[in-house]
Amino acid sequence: RVYAVIMAGGTGKLLWPLARKKTPKQFVDLFDKKTMIDKTIQRIAGIVNTENIFIITNEQGKVMLLQSDCRIDPENIIVEPMSRNTAPCIALATAYIKKKDPDAVTIILPSDHLVIDEEKFLEILQAGIRIAAKKTSLVTIGINPDHPETNYGYIQADRELYIDPSDCGDYRLYKVKTFAEKPDYATAVQFLESKDFFWNSGMFIWHIDMFSKEIERSLPDLHRDFLNIYENIDTHNESEIIEDVYSWIHPISVDYGIMEKAESVYMLEGEFGWTDLGNWDQVAKVSVQPPYSAASREKGIVMIDCEQMYIRKPKDKVVCLIGTSNLIVVDTGDALLICNKGDSHKVGTAFDQLRRDD
Ligand code: GDD
Ligand code: MG
Repeated sequence: RVYAVIMAGGTGKLLWPLARKKTPKQFVDLFDKKTMIDKTIQRIAGIVNTENIFIITNEQGKVMLLQSDCRIDPENIIVEPMSRNTAPCIALATAYIKKKDPDAVTIILPSDHLVIDEEKFLEILQAGIRIAAKKTSLVTIGINPDHPETNYGYIQADRELYIDPSDCGDYRLYKVKTFAEKPDYATAVQFLESKDFFWNSGMFIWHIDMFSKEIERSLPDLHRDFLNIYENIDTHNESEIIEDVYSWIHPISVDYGIMEKAESVYMLEGEFGWTDLGNWDQVAKVSVQPPYSAASREKGIVMIDCEQMYIRKPKDKVVCLIGTSNLIVVDTGDALLICNKGDSHKVGTAFDQLRRDD
């Protein structure tokens, strides 16, 4: 059977002031009145039964999910006592799923992505499920890059198409050579020019046995700790043990901790229109801003001699801009961000300097 794990425990501080400590980014509506977590659940529900969709988040995330209309069974919301990055997060979700179904194929999904062609997206995932079910490799999804993005990890693939003899679906499959997490700009330019590299979408598909084997090999200590959790799931001291393990494990991402060291990884090319909405530059790139002509003055924005602006503001606020260009302006009523386009990756530094409740 097929399961999905949606990771929703990040803070998304780069999307301040829309994302807050109280409302992390997966719980805000960036575009059309639906939160990113809702969209992620709805998208994957196209191929995975709702009872097999798990969300892994923190206590606050669980409360927000239960208040929302996402219709996920509370039993399927896994709570981490603290954030330890994506490797422990996936290991914990895996322990729960394995207990339910030791023959599960699992799709791991972040909750901060924009997918344009959802039908194509689901087709690619289905191909991934078929490949993963053979239990010979981990499967990842790579995106053909069109600019030297430094906020993504990269996957170096053998550009020769790998033809899976038993499966002739309409997709492109490559053997993965290496992973390279978030490069500097010069390296990202080299990656782009080499044509060997894809963006790491942060989505993975594998049979639960393959994941367990890889974690045992790459992160044996973590594997041992999670074996302890696995053995105690559904016992009276389940949460105590999880808390105990989380209190000493080191944060590590699945990309560094497992994917980079894994023996056999195949990559499906994800040609479905994709962006990680990780910072305001990425949001601005995919947002259709109205032309701020006379007609849009009704929306309360007046711009004179301005170029390439991204503006987000409360409905009832009037904003006038004169002679500005390439700025990101995000006004939430109680907080205001003004930032040069291209600098929004520094918003996290500002966030860290704010008071606790800002
Ligand atoms: N439950 C839980 N616990 N979720 C977490 C944790 C955690 O400790 N840390 C992160 N997440 C969730 C986030 O909410 C997000 O949905 C997903 O895991 C990925 O985390 P991000 O913090 O958004 O990672 P990233 O975007 O910087 O980098 C990853 O994704 C990129 C593509 O979107 C990496 O995999 C990159 O290589 C990749 O390019
Ligand atoms: Mg992300």
